[in-house]
Amino acid sequence: MPLLDSALPLAAAPMAGGPSSPELAAAVTDAGAFAFVPAGYLSAEAFASDLAAAHGAGRPFGVNLFVPQPGAIDPTAYAAYADAIRAEADVLGVDLPARPRHDDDAWRAKVDLLVRDPAPVVSLTFGLPDRADIAALRSAGSRVLATVTTPEEARAAEEAGVDGLVVQGPAAGGHSGTFDPRRAIADRPTADVVRAVTGLTRLPLLAAGGVDGPGAVRELLAAGAEAVAVGTLLLRAVEAGTSTTHRDALADPAFTETVVTHCFTGRPARALRNAFAERHHAAAPYGYPELHHLTRDLRRAAARAGDPHRLHLWAGTGWRSAEARPAGEIVRALAAGV
Ligand SMILES: Cc1cc2nc3c(=O)[nH]c(=O)nc-3n(C[C@H](O)[C@H](O)[C@H](O)COP(=O)(O)O)c2cc1C
Repeated sequence: MPLLDSALPLAAAPMAGGPSSPELAAAVTDAGAFAFVPAGYLSAEAFASDLAAAHGAGRPFGVNLFVPQPGAIDPTAYAAYADAIRAEADVLGVDLPARPRHDDDAWRAKVDLLVRDPAPVVSLTFGLPDRADIAALRSAGSRVLATVTTPEEARAAEEAGVDGLVVQGPAAGGHSGTFDPRRAIADRPTADVVRAVTGLTRLPLLAAGGVDGPGAVRELLAAGAEAVAVGTLLLRAVEAGTSTTHRDALADPAFTETVVTHCFTGRPARALRNAFAERHHAAAPYGYPELHHLTRDLRRAAARAGDPHRLHLWAGTGWRSAEARPAGEIVRALAAGV
């Protein structure tokens, strides 16, 4: 059975926090690609409503879940970082939460919902859950994919019983799915990671990270991926839910590079290098989701205020090729020659 039920070997990657709108999913699906619906950051109730809407659209789709993170941040490190970024919050008139907040992104409720009301595909990121949860999702009828960033993670995912892998290279925009957030994310072409993983497993692969045009899609397919997921190239699509501040920054020549930093959420993510990343990357502790909650209102206020230097401007290395066009046109251009 193919990994994804779509005419083209292309997928809209899940992009939580706004960009993956239902309109974007409809447009990419109409163009022959596969769409992922993100569950990350949503309450169980909000996810239930998005899941119902995805079912209602009557097309195959995938959902994406954040796997709960173990451990909790050291409160002293949290307080020191809150002090370090307080001036940024003051500029925007935002209060920072005094105490660290840990949560599991409503994992149990989301899995229970998916067991009752299965999606065709469920992809996981940020590690592996209990095998029982993977088995429950599969028994309910979903194909379960694990996001992996190294051959070792691929092996662990296969042993945990998934149906396929999302091989995410370091060039990817947004959070790395790395199982170990403290691991240094060294630059390496996504095609190299795909080739290393195909040597180890016979599981079907979806490749993601750094796609900047149809040549990159063809390269990843040739490296052994069954399909390719794109995120950044859809961020400026007409139908995407990306904030105006984020869209404008992606088109602004003043931003000249991307960096991998945990300073916004406590977990490494690739973003346009802005003033917040320059000022706070070095001092930031690790700790997802505590840092996500610490900076969330600050980042929301920055987006509202049109301040790109206090916002997490998630972007993969292909960001210069992200165009403000209908998503169907972007998908068709990416499919050239496949
Ligand atoms: C704005 C944004 C949000 C993202 N949110 C998620 C998410 O919720 N879940 C996930 O598994 N990956 C997420 N990612 C990573 C993508 O799924 C994918 O790996 C990445 O976009 C591929 O690289 P590219 O951006 O260079 O195309 C996000 C990426 C971006 C740019």
